[in-house]
Amino acid sequence: MLDERNFSKYLSNHEIEVLVQSLADRINKDYKGKNLLLVAVLKGTIIFAADLIRKLEMDPEIEFVRMTSYGKKSRASSGTVAFLKDIQSDLRGKHVLIIEEIIDSGRSLEFLYERLKKAEPESVEVCTLLDKSKKRVATDVPVKYVGRVVEDPFLVGYGLDLEEKFRNLKDIHYLKYPN
Ligand code: IMP
Ligand code: MG
Repeated sequence: MLDERNFSKYLSNHEIEVLVQSLADRINKDYKGKNLLLVAVLKGTIIFAADLIRKLEMDPEIEFVRMTSYGKKSRASSGTVAFLKDIQSDLRGKHVLIIEEIIDSGRSLEFLYERLKKAEPESVEVCTLLDKSKKRVATDVPVKYVGRVVEDPFLVGYGLDLEEKFRNLKDIHYLKYPN
């Protein structure tokens, strides 16, 4: 159970639903009639990707990738990134849309973006529910679809975890007293 002394509600399930719908509306408009492949980043994106894909009107394919990320105890992003699960499919002729639930330093995103670009798809764009844009370290990756820019509280719920817990919460909460 989430300890309410330490966490406060940040975005309600309804507010999240509105953000997801507005992202889906833009994607439906921009990718109408196109061959769309969603590349969702495990594990945090599972809930967002499941909600978003059901609001899309074309027939997108979906692939999952997994990269090394935070250490179990750490709440800060580590410097090096590698694939734990890469994608297998041929990207030529496809419009690729990377799905993230939150972008922080952008290191894992940059690593993925460069990998996908090399596979010569028609296009590569990025969609994230939340963007800690102030935390970005040098990266030129353009993030076209952003649900909401957020400051730097540590967030849990709706796929976001603290030491692998709380991904199942319907709302997003923030940690009141980090460390
Ligand atoms: P980046 O490489 O620093 O951009 O790391 C992004 C990843 O860190 C996200 O996909 C999340 O998995 C994780 N992350 C970043 N901020 C938070 C947070 O506030 N709560 C939980 N996970 C986070
Ligand atoms: Mg993630």
